[in-house]
Amino acid sequence: MTTHVTVIGLGAMGSAMAETFLKAGHQVTVWNRTPGRAGALVALGAREAASPAEAGELVVVSQVDYQAMYDSFSGVDLTGKVLVNLSSDSPSKLREAAEWVSARGGVLITGGIMTPPPGIGQPGAYTFYSGPSDVLSRHEETLKALTDVTYVGADPGLAMLFYQSQLLMFWSGLTSFMYASALAESAGLPVSTMLPYAQETFGGLAGEGPMGFLKILAAEFEARAYPGELNNLHMQAVGMEHVVHTFEDAGLDPTVPVALKELFARAVAEGHGAEGLGSVIESVKKP
Ligand SMILES: NC(=O)c1ccc[n+]([C@@H]2O[C@H](COP(=O)([O-])OP(=O)(O)OC[C@H]3O[C@@H](n4cnc5c(N)ncnc54)[C@H](OP(=O)(O)O)[C@@H]3O)[C@@H](O)[C@H]2O)c1
Repeated sequence: MTTHVTVIGLGAMGSAMAETFLKAGHQVTVWNRTPGRAGALVALGAREAASPAEAGELVVVSQVDYQAMYDSFSGVDLTGKVLVNLSSDSPSKLREAAEWVSARGGVLITGGIMTPPPGIGQPGAYTFYSGPSDVLSRHEETLKALTDVTYVGADPGLAMLFYQSQLLMFWSGLTSFMYASALAESAGLPVSTMLPYAQETFGGLAGEGPMGFLKILAAEFEARAYPGELNNLHMQAVGMEHVVHTFEDAGLDPTVPVALKELFARAVAEGHGAEGLGSVIESVKKP
């Protein structure tokens, strides 16, 4: 079914979304704060709006943060409009934004996209959505042109709670790979020597075997029990100091290893030394 969609924000992500909606046969209106970014989309059949006030009923927003939505829609009557904001921000900002949109007559659906722009419109990509499920259902077929729809709940903050939790794992995991690669290079080794072991480690953590710590720790967190007989936290806190020394000795930045060393040391000081690594979650919950 052909739908009219307005895409607000034509950065890398918004442009990919507008193009994907066009290719799916939808009528697309676009707007971007800085003019001059709509040319290729207009050539594909999009209409460029002169202002966000020209948006239709279904409005997909893709901007750097939620302040950009306030800046764009300030003074605009949102009566009857459904804003689907797929920008990044914190859950509390999303909850405030839902009230802001509602006070102007509209409904806000929030979303966190779990793919980079080349994944938009590709199988397997998904987006965490939150907000009123009946409104999302009405537009689900259209939104599915972008990614699969993964609804996580009515609280409008939830989309970003899921999204930011995944982003922390994404960024910290990849940053640790940057540290490992820099360490390899400091010893005159090409990064490619590290890659198969990094793949083994990340793959193992997500798997089922003895290295399958995501599943093992999830069970420990739910039971709030962290057996440490085989690998106690005290031993690992000392080991983390060795990681810090290794990076310092190589003349590399120690920021991330030092942050982990300090967290592990605090967990030991808080009485978890004889328990397992999973007990660090107790210190995470008590900042
Ligand atoms: N790219 C990715 O891989 C990826 C993946 C998942 C999620 N996301 C999320 O998707 C969103 C967009 O990302 P992107 O990669 O498209 O970023 P981007 O290329 O940097 O584009 C940012 C967009 O925000 C607009 N903007 C910024 N401040 C504004 C303001 N005050 N008022 C109006 N418009 C404003 C920019 O408009 P101007 O052109 O006028 O500056 C531009 O259209 C972000 O929240 C990002 O976290 C991105």
